[in-house]
Amino acid sequence: MIRCFHKECLEIMHNDFAAWLEESRGRGFDLHQKHLNPSFVKMLRAIGFDKGYVRGQGAYLWDEKGNKYLDLLTGWGVFALGRNHPKIKAVLKQLLDMDRPNLVRMDCSVLSGLAAQALVRHVHDGLSRVFFTNSGTETVEGALKFARCATGRQDIIFCEHAFHGLTLGSLSVNGDQFFRERFGDLMPGGRKIPFNDLAALEKELSTREVAAFIVEPVQGKSCEVVADGYLIEAQRLCRKYGSLLIADEVQCGLGRTGKWFAYQHWDDVEPDIVCCAKALSGGYVPVGAVITTPRIMDSVFDRMERCVVHSNTFGQNDMAMASALASINVIEEDKLVENAAAMGKYVMDKLRPIAEACPFVSDVRGKGLMFGLDFARPEASLKLKMAWDMLHKLNFGVFGQMIIIPLMERHRILTQVAGYHTEVIKFLPPMIVTKEDMDWFLAGIEDVLADVQRIPGAAWDTVSGLAKRAILA
Ligand SMILES: Cc1ncc(COP(=O)(O)O)c(C=O)c1O
Repeated sequence: MIRCFHKECLEIMHNDFAAWLEESRGRGFDLHQKHLNPSFVKMLRAIGFDKGYVRGQGAYLWDEKGNKYLDLLTGWGVFALGRNHPKIKAVLKQLLDMDRPNLVRMDCSVLSGLAAQALVRHVHDGLSRVFFTNSGTETVEGALKFARCATGRQDIIFCEHAFHGLTLGSLSVNGDQFFRERFGDLMPGGRKIPFNDLAALEKELSTREVAAFIVEPVQGKSCEVVADGYLIEAQRLCRKYGSLLIADEVQCGLGRTGKWFAYQHWDDVEPDIVCCAKALSGGYVPVGAVITTPRIMDSVFDRMERCVVHSNTFGQNDMAMASALASINVIEEDKLVENAAAMGKYVMDKLRPIAEACPFVSDVRGKGLMFGLDFARPEASLKLKMAWDMLHKLNFGVFGQMIIIPLMERHRILTQVAGYHTEVIKFLPPMIVTKEDMDWFLAGIEDVLADVQRIPGAAWDTVSGLAKRAILA
C-alpha cells in the first residue's frame, strides 16, 4: 500500500510515530529506488545485502525474520560504542526533556564547553582548543583552513590512498582518482606522496610552500599503518620547514586502535591539529571536532570582527554535544580503549595463521579493532592464478565481493570492501566486542578463505556471475 501524507496519516504520525513508521515496514528499498539513490539499491540487491534490518543492539543487527548479524562495518565506524548504547540513550532522553535553550548562537553553551574540556583530556598538552563540526569532512575542511591561515601558505601534502572526506576541499586531498573524476577542478595546491615515504615528504616540504601534511595514522581505505618512526620524523620535518602536521583520526581516533588517538602509539608524536568525528557521535548525532593549539586557533579568530569567520549553523548543538560527552564518558568508564587493544590483539593473533593458509591473502594489517586483509594474485598455484586473472579481466575489485558475500550469506557477518579499486577488506568491529564475537568472525573468515581456494566452486560461480551482470548493466 502506498501511503500518503493525508491529514489522518499525519495525525497518526504525531500521536504514535512508532505505529506510523511500522506501517511502512519493508518499503525502504522501494522508497530509495524512487527518491534517493537507485544505483545504491541495485548494488545492494546484486550482492544480496538487501536484508531490511529492523533492529540494532550493541554489536548486532536483526532482520525482519529475526536473523542476527554481527556488524563489523559499524556504519563506517560510527557505531564504535555499539548500537543504541543504553547510557548514551539515557542522556539524550533526559536532554530532550530539559527544554534547554539550544543554539542561541549569541551565547556560550556550557555543554559545548564541557564537551571540549572532556575531549582535550585525551590529547597531548598544548592542544587545548576545539572547533566542533557536523561531520568528518567538515572537520577536515576546518583543519585545512586553519593550517592555511596559521601558516600563510596554501599547499597541502597528502598520501596515496588517503581518504579525508568528499566535499570539495577534502576531496582535493583524496588519494584516489576514482573519487575525483567528473567533479571538475578541485582546490589548488594539493601534493600527493606515497604513504610512509619520508624522502618524498621532505622533497615537498622543502619548497616551503606547504601549509600542512595531512595523514591518517591508519588509513581507512587501505588499512595501511604508518611505519614505526614515521610520524615522529614527519613531525620533525614539518617543524623544520614551517609546516603543520594534521592527524586525521576521524576513523581511527577515540580508542579504536587501542589508544585514545592512533598517533599516541608512537612516543613524542604531537600533531598540531587532530581531527575526530564518527565515534564521537555515540551513533546518535553527527559531530566532529578539530582539536588544535591556541596559537593556530587564534590565527583564525584573532579579533572580535573575525570571531565567527569560520563557523557553522548546527555546530555545538545540544544533542551533538551531549552525545559527545556521553560517548567520551562511556569510552572512559567502560574501558573501551583497553578492550579495543585486547580484542584487537586476540583477533589478529588468530587471524594471521588463518590468512597465511590462503594463497590469495597478501597481507594482514591494522591496529586494534581496525584491521584488514589484502589480496593479491597468487604466484604459487597456476590454477588459482588463472582464476584470479579471469576474474580481474571481468572486473577489477570484484574479488573482495567473493569474501564479503559468503561472510554475509553463510555466517551473517556484515562487512564491506574497504575502497574502490583496491583488494582490501577492512573490519571495523565496535569497541565493545567480546571474544565470542571475534570467534564468530574467525570461524566465518576461515571457512570463506578455504572456500575461495576451491575452483571450480560456489564462490567463484557467484562472483563471476556478478561481474558479468555488472558489465552488462
Ligand atoms: C579518515 C577520514 N577522514 C574523513 C572522513 C570523512 O568523514 P565523513 O564521511 O563524516 O564526512 C572519513 C570518512 O570515512 C575518514 O575515514
